[in-house]
Amino acid sequence: MSWALIPLTEEQRAIQRTAREFARTEIAPQAVAWDRDGGFDRRIVQQLGALGFLGMMIPEAYDGLGLDTCTYLVALEEVAVADASAAVLMSVHNSLPTQMILRYGSEAQRLHFLRPMARGESLGAFALSEPDAGSDAASLRTQAVRDGDHYVLNGVKSWVSHGSMADVILCMARTDTSDERKGARGISTFILTPNLPGFGVGKKEDKMGLRGDPTVQLVLDNVRVPAANRLGEEGMGFIYAMQSLENGRLGIAAQAIGIARAALEHSVAYAAERKQFGKPIKEFQAIQFKLADMATRITAARALLYSAAAAKDRGEPITQFASMAKLTATETAMWVTTQAVQIFGGYGYVKEYPVEKLFRDAKVTEIYEGTSEIQRIVIARELYNRT
Ligand code: CAA
Repeated sequence: MSWALIPLTEEQRAIQRTAREFARTEIAPQAVAWDRDGGFDRRIVQQLGALGFLGMMIPEAYDGLGLDTCTYLVALEEVAVADASAAVLMSVHNSLPTQMILRYGSEAQRLHFLRPMARGESLGAFALSEPDAGSDAASLRTQAVRDGDHYVLNGVKSWVSHGSMADVILCMARTDTSDERKGARGISTFILTPNLPGFGVGKKEDKMGLRGDPTVQLVLDNVRVPAANRLGEEGMGFIYAMQSLENGRLGIAAQAIGIARAALEHSVAYAAERKQFGKPIKEFQAIQFKLADMATRITAARALLYSAAAAKDRGEPITQFASMAKLTATETAMWVTTQAVQIFGGYGYVKEYPVEKLFRDAKVTEIYEGTSEIQRIVIARELYNRT
């Protein structure tokens, strides 16, 4: 798939080659087993860490690679081509918990939590959603009550990607329960570790796709967290989460483009091999038009993503562009993988061939880190905010 529209630097090309080779040799051979068994081999975290891929945007002073967003997304797409589950692990860790600690954390928190995370010795997760607070994230009910120099947390967090594997969890909880209408402003962020008494891993979801990355509930039963583990200011947790999800949505867009690219690459190869009516099916316009539209939509989605990421790297606001990039890329992934299944026909519907998994993996990208409907709300709101 041509990258010609994105002018990569020499350094970015080198990182792309490294990521592609790693993904091809270390991730792709395991992806089917992870999908079948519903979990990773933990070694993937050490391997990604050894390459620096779990600290890509962390400054070198905190043991990261100190790279920009565009370079990170180049590596992430390569990982996603091989396996969307490995990509979500990399995306969540790089975009949410590490960036939150870097941006809002104290120096002590950066030294204690961020440095091992950047080295890949410690895996990060993000806990915002709850059983009754999904799209309406500000309605979350987990409580954090101050008790001396601690907070006591009670509640259930849902849909936590690799929450059962994580060493550091950035958890949003309500610190102000005095007035329900305080909503978003009554929420704070806490840095949790699984060794805290009362911290438990609850139900593991039996998912349609993205099965390698375990999605779990976290149960907080009187978890006493040192006040020093509160991130930034009390009451600012929802704003921190929203600002960080802008980074997250760029990562999910790159993941979706990787899934779509894999579907296109498999389809191109299959259409050249598969013969019907006496010739390879790539000779039929019905197939050519599908392949052409798949390639065009992927290229357009990537161009939008890299424009948004470049704006972020220039320090410009990207609320609207991050949502546009996520919306476009994830709907592209779903559409492209649907076409891929159609091109493969019956073989597209069975696990023996690769596009069935890609189709299942694509679906969740339209749901998590803000559904397509939420992205449209954010985009529409910004139309009024800017005028
Ligand atoms: N940057 C900075 N501040 C922001 C912001 C942003 N992007 N978005 C909202 N805010 C601020 C607002 O300015 C407002 O501040 P004030 O109190 O000063 O007015 C405050 O946050 C509340 O904002 P809204 O009134 O807009 O809040 P809302 O309740 O209407 O919700 C929403 C807005 C966009 C719908 C938001 O709830 C949302 O994004 N929902 C989707 C949640 C989501 O993406 N969840 C994904 C969970 S992570 C995951 O998927 C799992 C995983 O591990 C991959």
